[in-house]
Amino acid sequence: MENTKGERNSFTGSIGFVFAAAGSAVGLGNIWRFPYFAAKDGGGLFLVIYLILALTFGFTLLATEIAIGRKTKESPLTAYKKLNKKWAFLGVFSFVIPLIIYPYYCVLGGWVTKYMVTYITWHGADAVNPDYFNAFTKNIWQPILFMAIYAVASFYIVYRGVEKGIEKFSKILMPILVVIIVFISIYTLTIKTTDSNGVTRTGIQGLSYYIIPSFKGITVRKFLSICLDAMGQLFYSLSIAMGIMIAFGSYMKKDVSIVKSVNRIALFDTLIAFFAGLMIIPAVYVFKGEGGMTRGASLMFVSLPEIFNSLGAFGNFIGIIFFVMVLFAALTSSVSILEAIVSSMIDKFKWSRKKASVIMAAFTFVISVIVCLGFNVFYFEANLPGVTKGQLLDVLDYISNNILMPVTSLLTCILVGWVCKTQMMVDEIALNGEKFRRRGLYVVMVKYIAPVLLFILLLTSFGVFG
Ligand code: PHE
Repeated sequence: MENTKGERNSFTGSIGFVFAAAGSAVGLGNIWRFPYFAAKDGGGLFLVIYLILALTFGFTLLATEIAIGRKTKESPLTAYKKLNKKWAFLGVFSFVIPLIIYPYYCVLGGWVTKYMVTYITWHGADAVNPDYFNAFTKNIWQPILFMAIYAVASFYIVYRGVEKGIEKFSKILMPILVVIIVFISIYTLTIKTTDSNGVTRTGIQGLSYYIIPSFKGITVRKFLSICLDAMGQLFYSLSIAMGIMIAFGSYMKKDVSIVKSVNRIALFDTLIAFFAGLMIIPAVYVFKGEGGMTRGASLMFVSLPEIFNSLGAFGNFIGIIFFVMVLFAALTSSVSILEAIVSSMIDKFKWSRKKASVIMAAFTFVISVIVCLGFNVFYFEANLPGVTKGQLLDVLDYISNNILMPVTSLLTCILVGWVCKTQMMVDEIALNGEKFRRRGLYVVMVKYIAPVLLFILLLTSFGVFG
C-alpha cells in the first residue's frame, strides 16, 4: 500500500508485524473451521497430523511467503513475476484464491453477526434449538442482510490502511479473545449429560475423543483424505498460498526476524485453533455423542449455544462477548484478504484504491448473495471427496483449500526450491543477521518433502485414490 508520500507503508516493528499477521491468521478458520474438520475427521488423528504439518510445512511455507514479499517489495500479483518472468502466472493463482474465499468468508461473517445480535437481544436460549440455525440459513433475506452488514464493515476498514486499520484492532482484541476461549474450553470439560437411554457422557470423555488418535476403521484412502483436510486447514488458517503473507512481507522492515515472527504467528494460530477445538468438540460429544461430529459447517453455531445455555443468564452474557470477539477476529482476517486483493489490483491495473475497492465490493456482493442462496433457492447436495452433502459454500471451500492452495504451494516450492536459488530465500530469511537454525530443515522441506507430499495430496483431492 502507498502512503501519502507515495512510498510503501511499513509496519512499525516486529511486534506490529506479528500482530497484524496473527490478526490475519486468527479468524473463522481457527474458531469455526478447525473444530468442524477435527470433529469430522475423527478428532485425535486430525489433531496430531495437523500439529506435525504445522511444525514442518507451516513454518516453511509461511517463512517462504514472507521472504518473497520482503525481497520483492511487491504485492502478490506482481511479486512472482519479479522472481522469475515465466512464473508470473503464480501471482494470478494467489490472486484468484482469495477472490474465491472472500465472498464465502463474508457469508460466514454474516452468520457470526446474526448470532451476535441474537445474544445481544438476549435470545441466546432460542439458538439452542438446531432448527434455529436451519431456519436462518433457509431464510432468503436474513443471511443476505447480515452478510451485507459484515461486508460493508470490512470494506470500510480497508479504506483506513495497514497500520491504523489492522494493527489497532488486533492488538486490543486478540488477547480478550484468547481469555474467553480458554475460559469456555475449561468450562466445557466440566459438563456432563445423561441422555434418555441412561447413558452419561462427560466433557473429559469428549476430550479424549479430541486429543487421542484412534485408528479404528482407518484405510489408506481415509488417512490421506484426513491429511488433505489438515493441509487445507493449515493453508487456510495461516493465510498462506493466497498472497496475503507476501503482501504483509512487503511491508516488513529488513531488520525484523522472519524466523521469530513465523514462530510466533504459527504458535499463536495453532494454540487458538487447539483451544477452539477444546471448546467445541467435547461439548458436541456431551450433548450429541459421536454421531453429532458430522454436523459440518453448522457445528460451531449449533454446539456453542448449548454450552452457553447450560450457564443460564451468565451464558447469554458470555455469548455476547464471545460473538463480538469472533466478529472482530473475522474482520481482521477479512481486512487482510481484501488488502491483498485490493493492493494487487492497484499494482497491476494502476487503479486508485477507491476504484479497486468499489469493484471488489461489487464482486463480493454478487457472489456472496449467490452463496447465501446456495442454502435455499439454489440448494443442492454435492458429493465432494470426504464431504457429503456439500452446499455451494462447501464447494468453494473445497476448490480453494483442497485444490488451488495445494497447487499454488506446490508450484511455489518448485519455484523457490528449484527454479530460483534456494539460497536467495535463505539469505532473505537470515537478513537481520540472526543465525537461521532450521536452515537445513527449510531447504529439505522446500526442495523435496513439501513438493512430494503436496503432489500426493493433490492426487487425493482429485479422488485418484478412489
Ligand atoms: N486465516 C484466516 C482464518 O483462519 C482466514 C483467512 C483466509 C484469512 C484467507 C485470509 C485469507 O480465519
